[in-house]
Amino acid sequence: MKGIVLAGGSGTRMYPLTLATSKQLLAVYDKPLVYYPLSVLMLAGVRDILVISAPDSLPALRALLRDGSQLGLNLSFAVQKEPRGIAEALLIGEKHINDEPSALILGDNVFHGAGFPDLLRSSRQELDGCTLFGYPVSDPERFGIGETDAEGNLVSLEEKPLRPRSNNAISGLYFYDSDVVEIAKDLTPSLRGELEITDVNRVYLKQGRASLVRLGRGYTWLDAGTHDTLLAASQYVQVIQHRQGVRVACLEEIALRMGYIDAEHCYRLGTGMENSEYGKYLMEMAQTVG
Ligand code: DAU
Repeated sequence: MKGIVLAGGSGTRMYPLTLATSKQLLAVYDKPLVYYPLSVLMLAGVRDILVISAPDSLPALRALLRDGSQLGLNLSFAVQKEPRGIAEALLIGEKHINDEPSALILGDNVFHGAGFPDLLRSSRQELDGCTLFGYPVSDPERFGIGETDAEGNLVSLEEKPLRPRSNNAISGLYFYDSDVVEIAKDLTPSLRGELEITDVNRVYLKQGRASLVRLGRGYTWLDAGTHDTLLAASQYVQVIQHRQGVRVACLEEIALRMGYIDAEHCYRLGTGMENSEYGKYLMEMAQTVG
């Protein structure tokens, strides 16, 4: 399965914070926002990942993440010139996807919860068409919304409906089979001028091949795209990390636990940052996990 992190957009909603940097590089407590979506793909076992960003942001993202080999990944980068819609990522990523199944994640989405790696792996194995991940929210008019029947099957998908038929938001993580690029090629821009990911998902729904995995109460999903949600994400990560003594979305630790890198390598990554608590944590992990 190929991965795509869509880390573009103009960031205008977060001005002046994003006047000189990309939203996905802003801090969520102790690490850049983009670490969180990247960690999700890693936990799903996806190692060949394309990072798509706006032209101005690409050099800094590349400097941060490099070619991914330090994490046992294969990272490549592509530009989205203008934010013409989330589904455009599938067109930009056509070569990368290479007719294989793919996982697309938005660069501002933070997921956390016990059992999430297992859920990702089983969803990947059972993929037939597309798999969406739903989460109950109190402000459904802000999101893509999925309505389900009594058996929990998806019956409708709407993008930011004025009168939502449910409070079940469709999060920014999407698993697709190899048909997705052809589906994206047939899209026309919506009234707001974007290639809508909800329109892609609707094609699968019409074909009876869209499934919904509900992330229940045990999970946290935050879309850190506003000042308030970015702060909420930081506070959440701070509380969890202090209480549990383990880090959320620590890419090097995930790489170690997933067997993408060995303990010696992880330790070396830690020594490169040993003045920070993060670096010390990597050295500690290398000694306990390895
Ligand atoms: O976060 C989940 C929601 O994401 C879904 O429930 C919605 O169905 C989906 O449309 C999307 O809604 P948003 O209003 O959050 O989309 P937004 O335009 O803010 O874009 C989400 C992220 O993707 C943001 O970090 C910027 C990036 N992006 C967006 C567009 C439209 C790009 O990189 N390129 C783009 O062209």
